Amino acid sequence: MPAVPEECKLPHNFLGRSGLKVANMCLGTGTFGNPGGSRPSQATEEYSHQVLDRYVQWGGNFIDTADVYSQGLSEKYLGSWLTRQTRDQVVIATKVRGIVPSGVGLSRRHIVQNIQNSLSRLQTDYVDLYQMHYWDNGTPIEETLRTFHDLVRCGKVHYAGASNVVGWQLQKIVCTTDKLGINPFISLQQQYNLACRESEFEPLQVCKMEGLGVLPWGPLKGGLLSGKYTRDAAPTTGRHGWKSTKYPGSWNSLQENDQIWAIIDAVRDIANAHDKSMAQVSLRWLLQKDVVPSVIIGATTLNQLDDNLGAASGWTLSSEEMARLDKVSQPTIPYPYEMVWRQNDTRSNPFQSSYMVSNTN
Ligand SMILES: NC(=O)c1ccc[n+]([C@@H]2O[C@H](COP(=O)([O-])OP(=O)(O)OC[C@H]3O[C@@H](n4cnc5c(N)ncnc54)[C@H](OP(=O)(O)O)[C@@H]3O)[C@@H](O)[C@H]2O)c1
Repeated sequence: MPAVPEECKLPHNFLGRSGLKVANMCLGTGTFGNPGGSRPSQATEEYSHQVLDRYVQWGGNFIDTADVYSQGLSEKYLGSWLTRQTRDQVVIATKVRGIVPSGVGLSRRHIVQNIQNSLSRLQTDYVDLYQMHYWDNGTPIEETLRTFHDLVRCGKVHYAGASNVVGWQLQKIVCTTDKLGINPFISLQQQYNLACRESEFEPLQVCKMEGLGVLPWGPLKGGLLSGKYTRDAAPTTGRHGWKSTKYPGSWNSLQENDQIWAIIDAVRDIANAHDKSMAQVSLRWLLQKDVVPSVIIGATTLNQLDDNLGAASGWTLSSEEMARLDKVSQPTIPYPYEMVWRQNDTRSNPFQSSYMVSNTN
């Protein structure tokens, strides 16, 4: 692969209201492990290491995994690569409470067991960012948050974050850590992309008001926003080809969705104007959102990785282009949001932080 020019290397940003600096593109490792299994294009250990090496050549330092990715193989492949890195130059994020095996939640007992298992697969003494993968209705949130705090105090975890929550859950996390005087959460990992903006209504507003950094996952909607699928042809390859076989009807609902194809047309126009790929434009739109310090990318090949990392620096979307993408991708606004915003339009106070996720970074 060609050398990465200095001016294209990834800028680093503070992660939320914390002193931790991370590259503006985080490498997702959901594609590591189980090659030849049911999901297409999963990487072998050797190929995973090539992807990691290439990401570091771009100036990347931030890697996301989870206990459940490929039943632990993603953490394992990352761990064997970590043994030949300088540990403190890499920021490792992992998660607890995946969907499988069922029955495990966010109890003190499970979290303490789980971090031990993750640390041993990762071959490290600490995780930089430990994230609760989902909310757990079975455990009092105080128990979960005190456990995260204790893991920070004993050095096994440096920071804590959330993922896949609704607004009231995130606000409850913020208020509970405040009330107990324990370590705050610094980030929210949430699906966020041009075709999935509903989190702007609640969770992202909480992030903005309370100083949590948003880490979008699924930034290309599984490859759809790279423009490689066309409306009239059911996909046979890639993530969406696999999905349409596994979940019959999933492609039909995308195909029938006029808004998605209008978004893709707008992305294509803007990509042509900049001589950039459509994936780069879709990622750039996220990078320019003020609540987003880093976007979690997925890639099944080194070429996809290079393409995606080319969104990181050296060029920007104009405010007109951002506005065009915002408009074409605007989700239906349910009551009472539109009414709340309309009422507040006339009352702006410079000492009051803005409540709306905005475009400028
Ligand atoms: N917290 C959570 O619940 C959660 C959930 C999901 C993911 N994540 C994290 O977020 C990361 C990224 O999520 P994601 O994989 O869903 O991201 P994504 O960007 O929406 O999809 C990535 C997929 O799109 C295709 N692709 C990527 N770059 C491309 C390009 N330049 N041109 C054409 N196709 C391209 C590849 O699939 P094909 O080659 O197969 O088409 C790739 O595997 C994961 O690895 C994981 O770390 C977190």
